Amino acid sequence: MIIAIDGPAGSGKSTLAKELSKRLGVPYLETGLLYRAVGYLCLKGKSRCDDVESTVKSLDVLEVKVDVEGTRVFYEGNDISGKLNDERVGKLASQVATIPEFREKINDLFRNLVKGKSAVVEGRDAGTHIFPNAELKFFITASPEERAKRRYNQLLKAGKEADYREILNAIVERDKRDSSRAKYPFRPAPDAIVIDTTGREVEEVLREVMERINELHS
Ligand code: DC
Repeated sequence: MIIAIDGPAGSGKSTLAKELSKRLGVPYLETGLLYRAVGYLCLKGKSRCDDVESTVKSLDVLEVKVDVEGTRVFYEGNDISGKLNDERVGKLASQVATIPEFREKINDLFRNLVKGKSAVVEGRDAGTHIFPNAELKFFITASPEERAKRRYNQLLKAGKEADYREILNAIVERDKRDSSRAKYPFRPAPDAIVIDTTGREVEEVLREVMERINELHS
């Protein structure tokens, strides 16, 4: 069974997907991490995010591992997953996400990674383009202000500097870019269950999601 969890940055979809995969004991494919890994390669001068060929090819030098613990990305044998939670990397990831050829290749890669398995697949288009036939689709959302607040607190907790206004502006700008691209714009699948997490605890949302999964099996 494939459970697709989509939503914008800071909606709480990652926390939910991670917890859900643990409870169900199935692999957790975090698709955004691979977009970010390509952004990271561009930041380090190993690829060019403004060049289609270079961007598409950069997927060949990355290795991905997916299991119940989550998704990890390796470059030249080193796990770079911990280096990808960076605003500059996120911006470059959003840039490469506008390239249709890149999306086609990365989506094939995602399908191969969980071929024949059950998985929780989290991203922006898991239920629309990667797995349009997923058994269950959730679209997790929250207000831009709430998402900015969560990101701000996350950065402070990680001992990083943060500016709430800057984060909010970046979120609004990224939402606009992700949803207005000509091909593969970011939007919920028509058959997705939409959950707004504004002002709600993770546990409460998780309970709602588990109920939906149990309904499917009853
Ligand atoms: O979920 P995230 O913030 O790690 O994603 C980083 C960027 O990658 C985001 O701007 C949108 C893009 N992305 C995408 O277009 N499709 C996906 N399935 C996952 C991420």
